[in-house]
Amino acid sequence: MWERRPIIFLLLATAAILVGTIVTMVLPFAWVNTEKDRIEAVAPYDALQLAGRDVYIREGCNNCHTQTVRPLVAEVIRYGPYSKSGEFRYDRPHLWGSRRTGPDLARIGGKYPDSWHYHHLEDPRSMVPGSNMPAYQFLETRTVDPAFTRKKMDVLGFPYTDEEIAALDGKTEMDALVAYLQKLGADIGWREHAQVQVIGELVNPYAPDPDVLSEGARLYADNCAQCHGVALDGDLGPELTGARDIGEAELYRDLWNGIPDGGMPSFSTLGQKKIWKIVTFLMSQEP
Ligand code: HEC
Ligand code: HEC
Repeated sequence: MWERRPIIFLLLATAAILVGTIVTMVLPFAWVNTEKDRIEAVAPYDALQLAGRDVYIREGCNNCHTQTVRPLVAEVIRYGPYSKSGEFRYDRPHLWGSRRTGPDLARIGGKYPDSWHYHHLEDPRSMVPGSNMPAYQFLETRTVDPAFTRKKMDVLGFPYTDEEIAALDGKTEMDALVAYLQKLGADIGWREHAQVQVIGELVNPYAPDPDVLSEGARLYADNCAQCHGVALDGDLGPELTGARDIGEAELYRDLWNGIPDGGMPSFSTLGQKKIWKIVTFLMSQEP
């Protein structure tokens, strides 16, 4: 019957939409980024990181990468704890993004050593064979402008020292971008907290038979060789020819948890069986 009275219908429809807007948009604006959402550990970008952030924006990295982990089980397992509003306090503009041609980068800091990022940005396929990410080698030939960065720090009100600005001299855009990537998600120190304590005896369910060893060798080639060398002789990570001395249980723990801030990612997403197969393969290698 309301549809026969256009004025009243219009008013009621407007009221309904207004309530919806207030509840879903206006109130959250008042709730987020208040004092209680502050995370003390989250620090402003330093000069080099800020310069890197601008390279990230200029190169359009956020056309392919998001920077927010949604509170969904699959995302938390893959990337780490979901994003909190307080983590974006110094992001102007924020770079949450909406397209994931590549993986989310909100928790990339500390996942890999710096050298991995240099290799990957110079030539993504040298680190991830199937990657379709473009190469950014040219960033190594361009340098950061210290005076301009100082101005940006002033505008944003980020603290800096004269030494920090002076240290920018001669830094390439590549250095800045890597520094920025290593900061993402690292302030809250979640990698240490995410370590799983393995209680009790860890027992390898596999015997070193040919099937398991060839599967282990294949998994090693796919997941480890780009950092530890095809022949286990070391590259970005240490050589692993003597890995059997570390012992099965410890190897399993290193792979499950990764080595936080040592630059080795966790491989828990491979699952227990595959990790044990890799461990079996490593234990079979003669030093
Ligand atoms: C055309 C889309 C595209 C663009 C543009 C792009 N990337 Fe990527 N990126 C990808 C894809 C796909 C992957 C996954 C394969 C890989 O690791 O190379 C990836 C992976 C990554 C990873 C590794 C993530 C992980 O957890 O292993 C980082 C770091 C990264 N990109 C940074 C950047 C930066 C910085 C830029 C801008 C300079 C950029 N990407 C631009 C598509 C893109
Ligand atoms: C992104 C590069 C990277 C990848 C991929 C990687 N590692 Fe590592 N790994 C490292 C680095 C860097 C260290 C040294 C960490 C430290 O001790 O601070 C390391 C350390 C280790 C250690 C400890 C070595 C020691 O002497 O204490 C083992 C064992 C190991 N990795 C095995 C593996 C295996 C097996 C894989 C594949 C499932 C793998 N890693 C994948 C970078 C990587």
